[in-house]
Amino acid sequence: MKLNIALLAGDGIGPEVIDQAVKVCDAIAEKYDHQISWKPALTGAAAIDAVGEPYPDETHEICVNADAVLFGAIGHPRFDNDPSAKVRPEQGLLKMRQKLGLFANVRPTFTFPSLIDKSPLKRERIQGTDLVFLRELTGGVYFGKRGREDNGNTAYDTCTYTREEVRRLAKKGFELAMTRSKKLCCVDKANVLETSRLWRETVQAMEKDYPEVEVAYEFVDAVAMRLVQWPNSYDVLITENLFGDILTDEASVISGSMGLMPSASLGIKTKLYEPIHGSYPQAAGKNSANPLATVLSAAMMFEGFDLKEEAQAIREAVNRSLEEGVVTEDLSEVGKSYKTSEVGDWLAKNV
Ligand code: IPM
Ligand code: MN
Repeated sequence: MKLNIALLAGDGIGPEVIDQAVKVCDAIAEKYDHQISWKPALTGAAAIDAVGEPYPDETHEICVNADAVLFGAIGHPRFDNDPSAKVRPEQGLLKMRQKLGLFANVRPTFTFPSLIDKSPLKRERIQGTDLVFLRELTGGVYFGKRGREDNGNTAYDTCTYTREEVRRLAKKGFELAMTRSKKLCCVDKANVLETSRLWRETVQAMEKDYPEVEVAYEFVDAVAMRLVQWPNSYDVLITENLFGDILTDEASVISGSMGLMPSASLGIKTKLYEPIHGSYPQAAGKNSANPLATVLSAAMMFEGFDLKEEAQAIREAVNRSLEEGVVTEDLSEVGKSYKTSEVGDWLAKNV
């Protein structure tokens, strides 16, 4: 297969982890006879520095014309401590999601047998956890009307959803549930929020189209609690943008390190694959960050092209690297501390 992949390394540890994913993908391409053409493009603080904005038009052109986008991370502390900054790296990410129509963010959480005792949660609680969040990504409070009143002393961000926005996300949730254990949980706050009542109503109306799927409706606060108590009781969870942002960070703790979980963003056209972690500026340039979340995102990318064997080969190599203790410093309890690039080299050699 001929694949055109937009490569958006971004900020902080982004370029380092992306390099490892590229090595692994190139090794897979060689083994399975694919041709990958990488199209690097600027985003985030790196793009602000170069051209003054975080998601330039040239980058968008490259992304819409690619078969998929592989993305590193975005964000720089220089902007975090300056609330008055008009242009921020994160705006690039939001603009990209919106312009590419990436409305469904797929964030799996699973455990690795060799890391089960690395999680701060007890083994018996997390064993067997294999759940997927479908987070709505282009609506809600992230994209609602916002502003200041009262001479800047009052601020507001509004949360808006249309029935259609809920429906298209929920449809992906039902479809995913059908390929798994046919359990779907709709996470909302319908006891308080009007948008949540619209979510619930919309999902309820869809139940008849998927008679085999067992649907549960749970409040977000209760899910936050049960997620650390009995994560293995969940399968597919659908939720709105902000709830999904918070719950998926919480869920990432289950696997043992923030540096492990991949994600895919699906939508109208081009799909995007990225680790769920951020730009981790403290580690930038140190060749110490964990590249596995990005490498596993590349595995999701191959799966997105229906190249299942390729995806499986990457996942198996990752599992072996963990079993053999070829790990970065965040996982040093299960092995020796290797450099980011050494883990990438090992994986590329072992896929
Ligand atoms: C994420 C990130 C982003 C989000 C930030 C960087 C805007 O936290 O992808 O989860 O909140 O969506
Ligand atoms: Mn987040």
